[in-house]
Amino acid sequence: MEAKQETPKLWEATYEAKTAQELADAYGEWAELYDRDTIKVMGYVGPQTAVSMLDGYLNSKGCRVLDAGCGTGLVGEFLKHKGYKNIDAMDYSEDMLVEAEKKSVYKKLFQEDLNEGLEIPDNSYDATICVGTFTYAHVGPEAFEELLRVTKPGGYICFTIRDGAYEEYNYREKMLELEASSQWELQELREADYLVNEKVTAKFCTYKVLAN
Ligand SMILES: C[S@@+](CC[C@H](N)C(=O)[O-])C[C@H]1O[C@@H](n2cnc3c(N)ncnc32)[C@H](O)[C@@H]1O
Repeated sequence: MEAKQETPKLWEATYEAKTAQELADAYGEWAELYDRDTIKVMGYVGPQTAVSMLDGYLNSKGCRVLDAGCGTGLVGEFLKHKGYKNIDAMDYSEDMLVEAEKKSVYKKLFQEDLNEGLEIPDNSYDATICVGTFTYAHVGPEAFEELLRVTKPGGYICFTIRDGAYEEYNYREKMLELEASSQWELQELREADYLVNEKVTAKFCTYKVLAN
């Protein structure tokens, strides 16, 4: 009898990348199958949970929203479904951006590295959402400062941090540092399902920008 072929777990390489290029290569391999694998295989519910959370704070569907680390555009699709019309997207991986563009939900898409300074001007967005990107081998806590810089005072930043990575990296420390310096104010920090079929949870956080 022929041995059953296992579906390759393309996402494993994204947790093991040692450089930005290795991570981009891993996403290049995975981009076309990302939606199927995350939603059907892993039970990924991060995007809809984060979008529902952010939606509770915004009072205009016309506000400017940045989807940072947009991937294939799952977050953009949920935002559009909620009525948001003015969404831009950024990601480091060109291949993920190609998939995101196919969703036709974003006004502008740009390739940038959240671990470096972004070229986006200060105070550009009313809200910034970053889902699935604060995790192993991806984006470190310093990136909170860039999310703050591009979001207007009075605006909101919503993000997820995968449990495991939350304990392993200094995310919490940086969040508290930015609270102590009155740059942002915590509205909500909730632990919720993230990859249901893998029994992985994440922290879902929303901050109000005070000063950047
Ligand atoms: C798990 S995916 C999440 C994508 C999407 N937000 C979602 O929820 O489906 C993580 C995304 O972060 C992007 N990413 C990783 N490192 C990045 C960086 N330094 N700057 C910008 N994007 C990055 C990856 O290319 C990938 O598209």
